[in-house]
Amino acid sequence: MTAVKQAGYLVFEVSDLSAWEDFGTKILGLQVVDRRSDGGFSLRMDGYQQRFFIEPGPADDLAAVGWEVEGPEALEEIANRLKGAGHQVVSCSAEQAAGRNVEALVRASDPAGNPIEIFHGPKMAAEPFVSELVPSGFVADEQGFGHVVIVSKDDEQHEAFYSTMFGFELSDYIRCEYFGHEINVTFMHANARHHSLAFGGGQLKRIHHFMVQVKSVDEVGRCYDRFLFSGGMVHQTLGRHPNDKMFSFYGYTPSGFHFELGAGAIEIEDGWQSTVHRKVSEWGHHPPQLLTKAYRRAKEARGKSS
Ligand SMILES: [Fe+2]
Repeated sequence: MTAVKQAGYLVFEVSDLSAWEDFGTKILGLQVVDRRSDGGFSLRMDGYQQRFFIEPGPADDLAAVGWEVEGPEALEEIANRLKGAGHQVVSCSAEQAAGRNVEALVRASDPAGNPIEIFHGPKMAAEPFVSELVPSGFVADEQGFGHVVIVSKDDEQHEAFYSTMFGFELSDYIRCEYFGHEINVTFMHANARHHSLAFGGGQLKRIHHFMVQVKSVDEVGRCYDRFLFSGGMVHQTLGRHPNDKMFSFYGYTPSGFHFELGAGAIEIEDGWQSTVHRKVSEWGHHPPQLLTKAYRRAKEARGKSS
């Protein structure tokens, strides 16, 4: 079956472009490329010309997920598959494709209304990617930019859509309770990355978070420090997930949705068996409010004893 080969790019519509530039470059360690006349810009992380399109607008949400396929035949086959199943597919002009630095592009949306762009022929950067903040670079290139977690309205329908239309395979599920919230997330892969796509309900925006992966625990820690000292708000403290084994933390982006930065994920191998995990994390990934409450109690106790 002709399938998507990787998560090619994300498009964000953001209200504060300069905050996103600072966040992308000074926190994540990405590089700004292709500044546009409307104030938008792109961010680069690997051999691809760009991985994130930052576009001006009020939504502060995901504007599209770009999924890469092998070539023009694969693009046509997947577009016909979508049309055959009754989904609307919009073919984009050469100019629109050029705007994404790809050879050809079609647009569609998933059953929850998340905008999808399917493309082939991404432009590669002329120079190797170099980041002063992340000297060993990111785990990206053939594994895609990382992963994205988006909203679904009907998890079974969503899983069926992504597997039958795009050839994603099930990695696993996480189903549990987490600080009073019911967690039910489906994880799917398109290549060796444990999941390029995950989805679940109960989200305020189209996107819950996107993840980028660095190559060492120390680079996760350094990013954590950069983020804290920039005044960034942590969403989940350092921890390790039970399914992809990622060591990571979560923070708020300038648009209010989250990012995850991690290292050490396992990869999908032949004979992968999907499973259901009953916890979000092996350890960590706690809300920072836990620390605030504990700090207040400790201060009070200290006050009493002195
Ligand atoms: Fe994640």
